[in-house]
Amino acid sequence: MSNWQELERKYYMGTFDRTPVTLVKGQGARVWDENGREYLDFVAGWAVNCLGHCHPVVAEAVTEQANTLIQTSNQFYTIPQLRLAELLVQNSCLDKVFLCNSGAEATEGAVKLARRYGKLKLNGAYEVITTFNSFHGRTLAMTAATGQTKFQEPYSPLPIGFVNVEYNNIEVIKTATTNQTCAVMLEPIQGEGGVNLPDDDYLRAVRAWCDQKGILLILDEIQTGIGRVGTLFAYEQYGIEPDIMTLAKGMASGVPLGAILSKEGASVFTPGEHGSTFGGNPLACAAGYATLKFVIEHDIAGNTKRVGEYLIKGLEDLKQKFQFITEVRGRGLLVAMEFSSDMAKSLVTACLDRGLLVNRVKPNALRFMPPLIISNKEVDEALDILDKVLSSVATK
Ligand SMILES: Cc1ncc(COP(=O)(O)O)c(C=O)c1O
Repeated sequence: MSNWQELERKYYMGTFDRTPVTLVKGQGARVWDENGREYLDFVAGWAVNCLGHCHPVVAEAVTEQANTLIQTSNQFYTIPQLRLAELLVQNSCLDKVFLCNSGAEATEGAVKLARRYGKLKLNGAYEVITTFNSFHGRTLAMTAATGQTKFQEPYSPLPIGFVNVEYNNIEVIKTATTNQTCAVMLEPIQGEGGVNLPDDDYLRAVRAWCDQKGILLILDEIQTGIGRVGTLFAYEQYGIEPDIMTLAKGMASGVPLGAILSKEGASVFTPGEHGSTFGGNPLACAAGYATLKFVIEHDIAGNTKRVGEYLIKGLEDLKQKFQFITEVRGRGLLVAMEFSSDMAKSLVTACLDRGLLVNRVKPNALRFMPPLIISNKEVDEALDILDKVLSSVATK
C-alpha cells in the first residue's frame, strides 16, 4: 500500500470505497499511477472527462484565464460566463442559464426554481415527483429526491416535498400528482441507478402529463448531457423538451461547473432569490466554454454514438460467450454489463491488474463511461482485457 493510501486512511473522511491506485497524470483516455503504470480509463472521472484528460484546448483556456481573471463574484458582469450561457442556449431548447459548481447544486437549484414557480403560478404547490433508483446528488434535499433508501436512511428525517415513484411507469406519476405537485424530475436515462433506459414512449407520456396538469418537467442531464449518450442532450433522442434541465459532470472537463437551464416561462427567479459565490466564475466558465465549443464543433456526440455502438456490440459478443453475463444495456458511451451474481467488485480489481479502469455501478454490474473522444482501437483494447478477466472468472 502506498504512503498516499495510508494518508487517506489517517486524514480523509471515510466516504469512498476507493480502488487501490493513486493516479498522478492523465492524457487522452489514459492515466498513470505514482509508479508510472499506465491504465486505459473507462471511468473518466465518473463520466466527466468527455474530451479525455488534460485536453490541450481546455488546458490552454484554463491557463490563459488563470493568468487573466479567476474570480470576481456575481456582483459584476464577466465575459466567460456570458459567452458560455449564450452557447448553451444557442445549442439547446432552453432560454436561460444559471451557473453553479456541481450536480447536486444544479438539481437543488432546479427544485428551488420549481418551488418558486409553484408559489407564483400554482397556488403554492411545492411537491416534486422523482423516481426510485434515481440519483440527484448528496445535499439533504437531493437525498430526499434520490429514490434510493441507502442514501436516505442514514440522514432521516429528510426534507419534505418529494415523492419517489417507480421509474418508467407513467401511471404511478399520474397517481402521485396532486394539487401540491409543482414538478416531475427525472434522469432521461438513470446513470448511478445502474444505466436504466426508459421505454421509448415514457418521457413523451410524462411530458404530456406535465402539460396537461400545468406542472414543470425537470430533466436531470448531469450524467447524460454534453454528448454522453450520442446526442448533445439525451432529450433530443426522446422527442421532448424539458422546462428545466440540469447539467454538470461533462461541462468543463473536470473543472467544477454545473448549470440550471430553463425555458423563458419557467425562469422566475428575481434578484436575491438564488445565488452563488463561485458559480459561473471566469475560470470554470473558460473551461466550460472551451469544452462545449469543442464538443459541438467536432461532433463529439457523433463519435460517441458510433464508438458507443461498437462498444455495445463488443460487450454483446462477450455476453454470448459468458453465460453469467445477464444483460448489456446503454446508449452512447454510458453502458452497463450486468451479471448473475455480485462479482463486480472482483472484476474491477481484475481489470485494474490488467490496466483497465472500470466502475462498479451495482454489486452485480459494471459501468463503462470512457472519454467521448475514445477510438474503436481503444475499445478493442478494453474488450480484450475484459475477455481475459471474464475468462479467468469462468474457469474458476
Ligand atoms: C444524474 C445525476 N444528478 C446529480 C448528480 C450529482 O452530481 P455531483 O456529484 O456533481 O453533485 C449526479 C452524480 O453522479 C448524477 O449522475
